[in-house]
Amino acid sequence: MKIALVGYGKMGHMLEQSALAFGHSVVSTIDVFVPDAKVKISAGDSKALADAVVSSGADGIIEFTHPSSVLENIKALLPLKIPMVVGTTGWNDKKEEVASLAAKCGGTIMTSANFSIGVNILYKIVEDAARLANKFSEYDAAIWEMHHNQKADSPSGTALEIANHLLSEFKRKNSIVTNEFKEKPLPNQLHVSSTRCGTVPGTHKVFFDCEADTIEIAHTARSRKGFANGAVHALENLSSMLKEGKLKSGALYGMNDIFPELF
Ligand SMILES: NC(=O)c1ccc[n+]([C@@H]2O[C@H](COP(=O)([O-])OP(=O)(O)OC[C@H]3O[C@@H](n4cnc5c(N)ncnc54)[C@H](O)[C@@H]3O)[C@@H](O)[C@H]2O)c1
Repeated sequence: MKIALVGYGKMGHMLEQSALAFGHSVVSTIDVFVPDAKVKISAGDSKALADAVVSSGADGIIEFTHPSSVLENIKALLPLKIPMVVGTTGWNDKKEEVASLAAKCGGTIMTSANFSIGVNILYKIVEDAARLANKFSEYDAAIWEMHHNQKADSPSGTALEIANHLLSEFKRKNSIVTNEFKEKPLPNQLHVSSTRCGTVPGTHKVFFDCEADTIEIAHTARSRKGFANGAVHALENLSSMLKEGKLKSGALYGMNDIFPELF
């Protein structure tokens, strides 16, 4: 494929390596800041962004920028109707808006808060563990995540996704609390806490705790490679599934649509 990378930061550079390793070409790297990007645009300049992608001749787009930019970028790029994978996190509450925009303009977008196959396996393990712990009323549950100190959003989109998988099976809890507690937590509250430190690419832990013991389920990313490989594979699958008519254009898709073997 001919891939345009929107956002050429830590993930953008890793995505370029993955794309090349899988036999694709990277026809443009577009950023608002980094000196080695092929195209430099001003933040919020939707026309410059769309022009840069169109003139690159890309047949696929991967967007990893910043939570404050992602929505504007999606709005600028969706009407181009080039299959687009978005890895930027922090816009969960805008998914419905994006899905209806996609339906209106006919553009196709796929997103995941975490493209690592291991994390998507973790979601399943957490659901199974929550279903079992749910049967034993003594168990409490909590989630903790740690990322590098440059991450803009907290908690991570992945921690929230893990929380939703846990809540789907752990019936004693139905409310996520991400801020500090001023008083002791209520039994229905699931605490999702975050630490920001150094260069950690992403660690997530799920705890089931009672007086007798603690069950810990952990996922530790060793580098950003797993995310980048997953995002490139997602774009490959999205593009081929559209061509084969397995997916319709004009929609917002997730991992379950693109990697059915995981679900
Ligand atoms: N979904 C996943 O699997 C996954 C994995 C890792 C990171 N992320 C997310 O991806 C995003 C980027 O992560 P990163 O580590 O590469 O961050 P980064 O800060 O290293 O890079 C982001 C780049 O985007 C650029 N940028 C900002 N606004 C832009 C705009 N409007 N147009 C073009 N470029 C713009 C910045 O200048 C920067 O170079 C974050 O939201 C992060 O949480 C997601």
